[in-house]
Amino acid sequence: MSVIQGYPSPGEGLRLHLNENTGGCSPRVLEAIRRVQQADVSTYPSYRDAVVACARHFGVDPDWVLLTNGLDEGILMAAVGHIARARIHDAETIVPLPAFDPYPNSTAAVGATAVRVPPGRDYAFPTEAVLAAITPRTRLIFLNTPNNPTGQLIAVEDLVRIGEAAPHAIVLIDEAYIECGGTTFLPQLPRHPNVLVGRTFSKAYGLAGMRIGIVIGQPPALDPVRAVTLPFNINGVALAAMHAALADSEFLPRYAAHVRESRERLYGALRRLGLPYWESAANFVMVRVGEAAPFIDALAARKVHVRDRSTDPTTPGCIRITTGILEHTAAAIDALESVMALRQGSGQAARGAR
Ligand SMILES: Cc1ncc(COP(=O)(O)O)c(C=O)c1O
Repeated sequence: MSVIQGYPSPGEGLRLHLNENTGGCSPRVLEAIRRVQQADVSTYPSYRDAVVACARHFGVDPDWVLLTNGLDEGILMAAVGHIARARIHDAETIVPLPAFDPYPNSTAAVGATAVRVPPGRDYAFPTEAVLAAITPRTRLIFLNTPNNPTGQLIAVEDLVRIGEAAPHAIVLIDEAYIECGGTTFLPQLPRHPNVLVGRTFSKAYGLAGMRIGIVIGQPPALDPVRAVTLPFNINGVALAAMHAALADSEFLPRYAAHVRESRERLYGALRRLGLPYWESAANFVMVRVGEAAPFIDALAARKVHVRDRSTDPTTPGCIRITTGILEHTAAAIDALESVMALRQGSGQAARGAR
């Protein structure tokens, strides 16, 4: 069987499976892309202005900023820079569960061992267990707040405790969804030379197709990552898009308001339908549906695509639904209601037949 590169497309319908901004990006981004000049395409890009603009936006020094090809690249390069480049052979990373796949995958890519830490009750962040998992071999600790897929936050005090407990390691705080809820670690960063904060333009900003992530940290933590990152990793069109996205200060608050309201509406519907869920700080909600595959297929038949989380042993029977633009959440709720009505109907029929 041949393998074709890329994440499989779910086909026609509403994409609520990858936590993209289903409302798209700021119109200013598309205008900026249309204004791209010949030289933006024919010459290698210069990152100086983009780095300075990002640094100003995030309130940090420009030498604390590394632009990456999506935060995915930043995660891999953190592992390459701090483990493979340092030629550390018995290195461990700490991966609290459930986790975004690139954490264990990047760990494996550099020949390190991922020490997986199970979640607390109701997916509460297992701070004490993470602290207990730190050893002299720990090189990288992946922390994700809000967590994908549970939407749970890690308290800033816990992030501080973990950072201070592992001064010999790098703590990568992945804030891919922080625009939707939670408190960023960025104001704490000046006191934590071993912490990196990861951000992305893929989610709330609606630029997933442009592939722009940012890794922010003090030079001791960031420079090894910078040293292994390819010199022209972001393309010139993406840079134009990023500048325009940063210039539109109204876009993010509008999207965040949709997310907050969408989550509430989905919670209400899930309560009515009797489906357990976990309150989320991100632009998605994890829901326990039981046997997930037929449920997901039934939603897909109604042109609503959601993410199957049921194959992960830490999230059995669960799916993850993006909760962004209100009208799309309404369509998801309609589809959920219709699938549940069918499920309840077939349950009654089965009981009747017995
Ligand atoms: C927790 C988390 N981190 C990082 C990323 C990577 O985002 P990107 O590579 O698109 O910037 C994602 C994307 O799904 C994510 O869920």
